[in-house]
Amino acid sequence: MPTVTFVEHDGTPHHVDFTAGQSVMEIATNSAVPGIEGDCGGEAACGTCHVIVSDEWIGVTGRRSERESQMIEMSPECEANSRLACQMTPSDDMDGLTLRLPEFQM
Ligand code: FES
Repeated sequence: MPTVTFVEHDGTPHHVDFTAGQSVMEIATNSAVPGIEGDCGGEAACGTCHVIVSDEWIGVTGRRSERESQMIEMSPECEANSRLACQMTPSDDMDGLTLRLPEFQM
């Protein structure tokens, strides 16, 4: 089963198995990963699912959409590779995906 790793701001990793078809936000919240809240249920309307994609993975995941940018760029921790986890749906070829979490969600 493919795995995604969430790395908390303090460096604590959380390795989570996933099945294709779930959003990254759902993968995290279903596994109680600290720091991913998903308050709006995946509507790109709350910004509480902010993740930062590493440079080596951004070509696979793709960059954030304009809609994501409107929400995520309000965060003081927004980085070039910031995404909303609810707008990312990993496929099996994203096995090993690693995502950093900001210190605070909005
Ligand atoms: S869950 Fe609200 S923006 Fe992603």
